[in-house]
Amino acid sequence: MSDVIDWDALHAHAVAAMERSYSPYSKFPVGAAAITDGGRIVSGCNIENASYGVTLCAECSLVSDLIMGGGGKLVAFACVDGNGAVLMPCGRCRQLLFEHSAEGMLLNTLSGIRTIEEVLPDAFGPRTLVEYAGE
Ligand code: THU
Repeated sequence: MSDVIDWDALHAHAVAAMERSYSPYSKFPVGAAAITDGGRIVSGCNIENASYGVTLCAECSLVSDLIMGGGGKLVAFACVDGNGAVLMPCGRCRQLLFEHSAEGMLLNTLSGIRTIEEVLPDAFGPRTLVEYAGE
């Protein structure tokens, strides 16, 4: 699966998104890009706020792009810092991505290509709620 993903192109989309970052407080721009199961590219950048805790991570803006553009499941994901270097999504954003991931979604990480299940083991997610409800 990983070999059919154009990781260089995905990285370039993440860099383009990072260039739109609004990060005057941390001065740590972030860009993220992903491919959906429909073949669409979605992307996002971090959008900070004077009330620091209200900051939107790049993954939040990517998920907004995903949903507003018609939805779908994410199959491959890349994230970069202000130097264009690979960045690992924060814990909260791994959860955010898990919700919208196809099974086995691939991430370009500091330790190579990994699946969403590897970076968020035994995840709490939509299925947990379905199973609890006995559906
Ligand atoms: N940030 C992201 O956008 N995504 C992550 O996964 C890690 C952190 C942003 C939030 C904040 O604007 C800046 O990086 C510094 O924490």
